[in-house]
Amino acid sequence: MNEDARHAAGTDDVRASTADRPSFDVSVAHQARIYNYWLGGKDNYAADRKAAEEAIAAYPGVVTGARANRQFLARAVGHLAVGAGIRQFLDLGTGIPAADNTHEVAQAVAPESRVVYVDYDPVVLAHARALLASNKAGLVDYLDVDLRETNTILDQASRTLDFSQPVAIMLIAILHAIRDEDNPHGIVAKLMDAVPSGSYLVISHVASDIDPEQIASATARLNQLSHQHFTLRDHAQVLRFFDGLELLEPGVARVEEWRVPELEIRDRSAMWGGVGRKP
Ligand SMILES: C[S@@+](CC[C@H](N)C(=O)[O-])C[C@H]1O[C@@H](n2cnc3c(N)ncnc32)[C@H](O)[C@@H]1O
Repeated sequence: MNEDARHAAGTDDVRASTADRPSFDVSVAHQARIYNYWLGGKDNYAADRKAAEEAIAAYPGVVTGARANRQFLARAVGHLAVGAGIRQFLDLGTGIPAADNTHEVAQAVAPESRVVYVDYDPVVLAHARALLASNKAGLVDYLDVDLRETNTILDQASRTLDFSQPVAIMLIAILHAIRDEDNPHGIVAKLMDAVPSGSYLVISHVASDIDPEQIASATARLNQLSHQHFTLRDHAQVLRFFDGLELLEPGVARVEEWRVPELEIRDRSAMWGGVGRKP
């Protein structure tokens, strides 16, 4: 089978050796560093700040969205650790460490929690040591692998995670970086196939159908200025990632609305988020 046929069949890693994997290049904006800027971090360069500011000029809500997304991550991990007893997390698209990283939230609830982080950006790799400071009772690993090399991820993650026990698969603000031709729904299905009943899928995704004109304009600027391409998806496309799973209330919602009392919601984001359980 040639590469295209394997890709179409979803049986192998998608264009695994991809030429578009970021190198350490500060002259071009990278998603991890743009996001770091929106979150108020200092790990970014002039090219990242220019792209981030141009996106803000087109749609000021991108900053709200980044912050609300981070809070969604912490709430979802907290819910899975406390409410569902999940002790294993595969966090894909780690980003530069920020407040309340997955292992910190999970191990604050259950010190024995195991977390495997995955990212393909050398800047994130350079920060990985900060992520590897696991609680002694638990374990944290970091994989420098492209999400599209899904088989490799599952193979290497099995050094740390026991795939016979439930795992939370976390794809927080990463799937927009996977183009339709790289079969994002197939990647998610492959990840969920690898975990047992009682596992969870957590997704947040930039929305194409919330403030659509402004977000499209911000994305157009980002696509001109950043290394990675952004693909926006609407509510129905995000919902489809949860096919075959039991969606937790309130379903796929704006990230700031996910399990937050209405009265506490101040700003609106253009990000969909949801959590589903594998039956
Ligand atoms: C916007 S950041 C999100 C970080 C974190 N998940 C969060 O929500 O706070 C997206 C991250 O995904 C990573 N990423 C994008 N495409 C990827 C790919 N194909 N494989 C692995 N990581 C990828 C980027 O390098 C970046 O660090």
